Amino acid sequence: MSNERMDALRRMEPRSKEHRGLSLLIALATIVVVLALAFGVTDARDTRADRAEGKLTPVRNLHDAVRREVTLPRPGAAGELSVEDAIASRRSVREFSDEPLTIEQLSRLLWAAQGITGEGGFKRAAPSAGALYPMEIFVVAGRVEGLTPGVYWYVPSSHTINLLKAGDYRGELCECALSQSWIREAPLSLVIAGVYDRTMKKYDERGVRYVHIEVGAVAENVYLQAESLGLGTTLVGAFSDEDVRGLLSAEVSPLGIMPVGVQLR
Ligand SMILES: Cc1cc2nc3c(=O)[nH]c(=O)nc-3n(C[C@H](O)[C@H](O)[C@H](O)COP(=O)(O)O)c2cc1C
Repeated sequence: MSNERMDALRRMEPRSKEHRGLSLLIALATIVVVLALAFGVTDARDTRADRAEGKLTPVRNLHDAVRREVTLPRPGAAGELSVEDAIASRRSVREFSDEPLTIEQLSRLLWAAQGITGEGGFKRAAPSAGALYPMEIFVVAGRVEGLTPGVYWYVPSSHTINLLKAGDYRGELCECALSQSWIREAPLSLVIAGVYDRTMKKYDERGVRYVHIEVGAVAENVYLQAESLGLGTTLVGAFSDEDVRGLLSAEVSPLGIMPVGVQLR
């Protein structure tokens, strides 16, 4: 080999080492990106850790976690309070009488939140962008006549509540929400949770806004239904998402807690 060619090869050698280093770096970066995508990068740190501990169930698998199904009575005849009067008298209520709630009252509250109201079982009580219905309603029940205390999941199509965990979790829910004490004292709380994917599949980022708008619609329905039944509630937004999600043991985004009790007269 000529000296000129040997020199040229020597000059190339360091460059090829550099090249190998760069390739290795790109390969490593690719693996990191693929792993991040595979495990999800948004809102997933907590859920991933919790799922690894076997604590969270994806909503599509929640039926498998159901321990008992309770069929709710169909909401009966309409209440007597006009919509105008309900709106005018509605207030956020944080003090309740000692009375428990009845299963009929719970049935009406859940119907108002997400009950089926039309189109062959498809349309629900609260409006939803693209009729995609991203909301899931849970009940943390403590004192409801004839109902085992526990965490329940509402299924609109069958108008049933489904026991996920037995036990009185009102105290734990209260701790999740900066210890707002009326959550512990209310006979039950509804937890309104969202599944963003359902709406974002169609509307991308704007879907997040739509889900947040929908919580407001659901909450106002519950406020007005409560007022009509002589009950009181407050929409609570101050809580730890991670802790409430852990309490529900479900892979959802909690967006509001509504403790409900009988209004003091
Ligand atoms: C998004 C949102 C979050 C709220 N979070 C809380 C809360 O964490 N704790 C609470 O006591 N009230 C909460 N409220 C209730 C407000 O304090 C209440 O609506 C406001 O004082 C007006 O009173 P009114 O509802 O009786 O008309 C919240 C209300 C909204 C709309």
